[in-house]
Amino acid sequence: MSVVLVTGGAGFIGANFVHFLRRQRPEWQIINLDLLTYAGNPENLAGLEEDPRHILVQGDVADPALVASLFSRYPITRVVHFAAETHVDRSIMDPGVFVRTNVLGTYTLLEAARHAWQGLKAEEPRFLHISTDEVYGSLGPQDPAFTEKTPYSPNSPYAASKAGADLLVRSYFRTYGFPALITNCSNNYGPYQFPEKLIPFALSQALAGKPVPIYGAGTNIRDWIYVEDHCRGALLVLEQGRPGETYNLGGRQEKPNLELVRLLLKLLREMRPELGHPEELITFVTDRPGHDWRYALNTAKIEGELGWRPQVDLEEGLRRTLSWYLGHQDWLERVRSGAYRDYLQRQYGAAVV
Ligand code: NAD
Ligand code: DAU
Repeated sequence: MSVVLVTGGAGFIGANFVHFLRRQRPEWQIINLDLLTYAGNPENLAGLEEDPRHILVQGDVADPALVASLFSRYPITRVVHFAAETHVDRSIMDPGVFVRTNVLGTYTLLEAARHAWQGLKAEEPRFLHISTDEVYGSLGPQDPAFTEKTPYSPNSPYAASKAGADLLVRSYFRTYGFPALITNCSNNYGPYQFPEKLIPFALSQALAGKPVPIYGAGTNIRDWIYVEDHCRGALLVLEQGRPGETYNLGGRQEKPNLELVRLLLKLLREMRPELGHPEELITFVTDRPGHDWRYALNTAKIEGELGWRPQVDLEEGLRRTLSWYLGHQDWLERVRSGAYRDYLQRQYGAAVV
């Protein structure tokens, strides 16, 4: 039986990964370390409360004593590191916590694992660091997609903190022979995503009959991947990837933001005709500073080496996502707490909120 430490497993992708692992590797013991920040929610782990093979530990990945104690207490041989501050707009408002959690937190986890795994022979340990395509910077319209060899060129404090973490992970492999792997993934969407991010935010605004803000002209392009495709790729890399390697995971579904939001709201209208014409709520607002224009990932490496491909196309994924949010409007209401409303007010102003 493997014991896996999942960090950030009460957040969006982490919680999807924990549920995915439960189905795919039911015999694995999961230790889920999550600080339960505004983005972490134990409700995302509903159904696992009584499951002895899932233990939720509320704590900080940047706390060396706590992290070391988990390695002494449990025979952890796998780490999947999701925990991070993740929202670009918040990193522009308050970069400090991004440096602390994303860089110092990753360092703390690496150190604890390195010490715990010294001399370990029984089972090959593995450390999967979950990263993002944003570390590569921004593409122009004709540029080829990012490959694993594209030099890092992060543009936001969030992307820079993830790049710093990635480089530390890389250095641990080179210097100590530490069994680390990295995945760089494109924009995820699906159940449990906190509604500060474009898709659930647009949806929750439309459900409330409020403006749906689009930054700039809405021409910026993102490559969208359904979260379950990411989870499948992460498990594959954890089990079969080559230590020291980086793998891009992309949805191969590039869309300008305005087109994406129009599609989302069209599908919403089909599912909820009583909402009228939510497309009319689209409102153009001041652009994000340093807004990356386009992301696209070349995924030939993981396709060739491990046989992974995204399976859920954008329209199907958006339908599944809409169905989940429409069936969980109570979840949406609860996460739209006072602190979240303060953030919205600061980010968008009264005209949108
Ligand atoms: P999220 O913001 O939804 O969740 C982050 C989780 O980390 C939360 O549960 C939070 O409580 C926890 N956390 C934050 N600080 C912590 C700390 N100091 N100690 C322990 N736990 C802490 O994020 P997400 O969108 O699920 O992203 C997960 C990972 O995937 C991140 O590393 C992110 O950079 C990466 N990623 C995200 C995307 C995306 O589109 N969302 C794409 C590529 C990569
Ligand atoms: O590319 C992977 C990254 O995707 C992850 O590493 C990040 O954690 C994740 O937050 C996401 O970053 P983005 O900045 O691309 O995602 P976001 O949902 O914030 O924005 C998507 C696009 O939509 C981006 O071009 C900005 C735009 N946008 C966003 C919001 C919240 C709007 O036009 N209006 C909005 O209100």
